Amino acid sequence: MKDLQNKAIEVLNNNWKDGFSVPCANLYPFQWFWDSGFIAIGFAHFDMPKAEKEIETLLDSQWDNGFLPHIIFHTDTDTYFPGPDFHRSDLSAQASKKYKSTGMTQPPVTGFVLQDMYRISTDKKATLKFIESVIDKVYFNHEYFYTNRDPKNEGLVYIYHNWESGTDNSPIWDDIWETMNPPEYTFERRDTTHVDASQRPSKREYDHYLYIIDIAKEHNYKDEKIAELSPFLVQDPLFNSMLIKSNQSLIDLYQLIGGHDAKVSQLQKWQDKAVKSFNDKLFDSELGVYVHYDLRNEKPLRFISSSSFSPLFANIPSKEQAASLVNVMMEKFGNDNQYLCASFDPTSDRFNPKKYWRGPVWVNLNWALYYGLKNYGYMDIAKRVKADTVEIIEKAGFYEYFDSRKEVYKDGNAGYGGNDFSWSAALLIDMLQDN
Ligand code: DGY
Repeated sequence: MKDLQNKAIEVLNNNWKDGFSVPCANLYPFQWFWDSGFIAIGFAHFDMPKAEKEIETLLDSQWDNGFLPHIIFHTDTDTYFPGPDFHRSDLSAQASKKYKSTGMTQPPVTGFVLQDMYRISTDKKATLKFIESVIDKVYFNHEYFYTNRDPKNEGLVYIYHNWESGTDNSPIWDDIWETMNPPEYTFERRDTTHVDASQRPSKREYDHYLYIIDIAKEHNYKDEKIAELSPFLVQDPLFNSMLIKSNQSLIDLYQLIGGHDAKVSQLQKWQDKAVKSFNDKLFDSELGVYVHYDLRNEKPLRFISSSSFSPLFANIPSKEQAASLVNVMMEKFGNDNQYLCASFDPTSDRFNPKKYWRGPVWVNLNWALYYGLKNYGYMDIAKRVKADTVEIIEKAGFYEYFDSRKEVYKDGNAGYGGNDFSWSAALLIDMLQDN
């Protein structure tokens, strides 16, 4: 185990670029929002100054309205598509003048990441001081979400692009692609020069992704226009779980710091409403899990994915709902010939065990599931998620995503996407330290 941990530390140190980390050399050459958060949790275990710098740099990219972008283009390189010239954050009057970025965001992990840094810290006083210096920016980011991303005032925020979900090419979006007919774009893919095309989204899927961005650009990334016009407008249980988890962390941390009653009470208001709406609207009692809601076409997207279980991480389900999630998970995702936890329902005909978010196991979702199962007292299954995560990394390496089928590991490589992937290393370190 020591060897694996040392290798993980090496991966993180190699991906560190003077002030921030890349998720993966070559494939993802900039700073990504939720990657950075998970990476900071890994660094906190052995190099707290790097963890702090990672978060500081991320928050430094904040826009005037509190928005945090999903990619911050720190360097000029033409090895990634679509880069800054496609995204054109400068079209927005609110954008950072300091950094070029995308005009979309990613799951809001920063609140709970600060609390994890505090949990891990061996010098709590110093870490709390750091947290005090950045926490208002995270609060401002939550204020951005509840003010601009919740047009019906439900306490649930929307995402307007599949890249905002983090689960980029999930089969859940297929139904939305059906409602669109984007033009055929001409462009040169860069991802498929680093990774086998069978493990990445298709060309036609990219046409949809680019078209949604073009619509947002046409309206200078104005939220009201996006809410009105984007063909993709979804209330995502994973995204909202991360926001709710982060709300609670901000409440806890502000209380530790003391003297922030107004912010704590505002956060509590958002939180109460969010948790109630989440359970009322996103729990599908027939399927027994949480599902996505398509706000544009006003219908639930009734599919089971690892996002369906993520509310455990944020303490959203009742005990009964939690029991139902665990039942479904063990029945469909957890039999003996599978590693937990595939990213999409292995019993569905849309399942593809090799293709990015259409089936493979991801370490960040396993990490959230591990802590979520512990929250509800499912210690044995939590242990299995951790053991499975360690085993796939031991067998395949620090890959971006992994096959969930055990038999594949016998004859060759079952790790897919980029290798030496930062969050696989960071969150392995964290899980190994936790008992
Ligand atoms: C990619 O390029 O696939 C990224 O995941 C977008 O965020």
